[in-house]
Amino acid sequence: MPGTPAVPIAGNRFCILGGASLVGSATAGELLDHGAAEVVLFDNFTFGSDAAIAHLRDHPRLRLVRGDVMRMADLLRATEGMAGVLQLAAYMTLSMDRDPWGGLDVNIRGVQNALEACRANRVGKVVFASSNAVYGYGPGVAGDLVEGTPFHSVGAPPAAILYGASKIIGEQLCRDAHRKWGQDYVVLRYSTVYGERQHHRAANALYIIETLERVRRGEPPEVFGDGSETKHFVYVGDLARANRMAFERAATDVAVNASGPAPITTLELVTLVTELAGGGPAPRCVGAEPGKVRLTSGGAFRIAHEEAFRVLGWRPEVDMREGLRRLIAWRDSNEGRVA
Ligand SMILES: NC(=O)c1ccc[n+]([C@@H]2O[C@H](COP(=O)([O-])OP(=O)(O)OC[C@H]3O[C@@H](n4cnc5c(N)ncnc54)[C@H](O)[C@@H]3O)[C@@H](O)[C@H]2O)c1
Repeated sequence: MPGTPAVPIAGNRFCILGGASLVGSATAGELLDHGAAEVVLFDNFTFGSDAAIAHLRDHPRLRLVRGDVMRMADLLRATEGMAGVLQLAAYMTLSMDRDPWGGLDVNIRGVQNALEACRANRVGKVVFASSNAVYGYGPGVAGDLVEGTPFHSVGAPPAAILYGASKIIGEQLCRDAHRKWGQDYVVLRYSTVYGERQHHRAANALYIIETLERVRRGEPPEVFGDGSETKHFVYVGDLARANRMAFERAATDVAVNASGPAPITTLELVTLVTELAGGGPAPRCVGAEPGKVRLTSGGAFRIAHEEAFRVLGWRPEVDMREGLRRLIAWRDSNEGRVA
């Protein structure tokens, strides 16, 4: 329904590009629970996996499509008849470090292809997964990060800057589509995501999943330096709700942060994961490892989510203790053990 920025979920069809992973599987569940007529998970399985979507495979209103955002024909077929498209297909920092050109292709040309397919199929609204990486990293990043905070690149790893810059370009491609052909869209700048179906691709979330794995092996968890570095996460279920609300609400042509209730230091985080996992050895402080990409800041920071409440009525509900409890319960379940 072009021209109507509010896209109700019930009775409508949605396509999630890059849907066979952490955010896509949670959002598919959220849309199906809210009465979506169909959810198409579109993925080329570069990073996604059957395990990440196994819990949805037999859902009667879910369809899995193997396709590539670099191929227009795949996108045109998959987005036909869709009221909304969630664009998640991307390379994050660690993958960008291994394959910068692959990442730039998918994060830039892939986004433009998705927008053009949406135009051709008159898709009502696009929700684009951006990142707090658009504020950059390094010593310039500290304090409250609000939507108007500029990009900081000095002193940060190249791959993190390539990733952040590619998300800035993706956002601008959405704005351009709005300006040129009236494409309704909402950009959500996710902070680091964690929860059920956690993977090992997000640099900051390694503090969670690697700590859990170390504790399970009886090894001490590791923190970098004195553990005072800030991280700000968001629980995947809160994010699935944000994605759903971005479709439902009349908002368009906006970009807002989607972060969890509060930041946490790496030492607090590692200590909390250890406690929730049933206890274990005290954390070991480690120094920089050559070649390892770390996302740094200039001091304590907080990714402000007040604008998301003003624009979408969304705010995070799950604190880290509860979100981590759910992640660990999933990891200890049959599904989590095979993932
Ligand atoms: N996970 C996080 O911490 C985090 C934080 C901020 C922003 N984001 C953004 O959220 C989105 C989803 O995150 P996620 O953790 O689920 O990511 P992910 O890397 O697990 O999922 C991305 C999906 O895109 C797919 N994909 C990659 N190239 C593709 C292509 N050419 N065609 C089709 N599919 C392709 C992958 O196979 C994968 O399933 C990404 O855009 C990411 O940049 C994630």
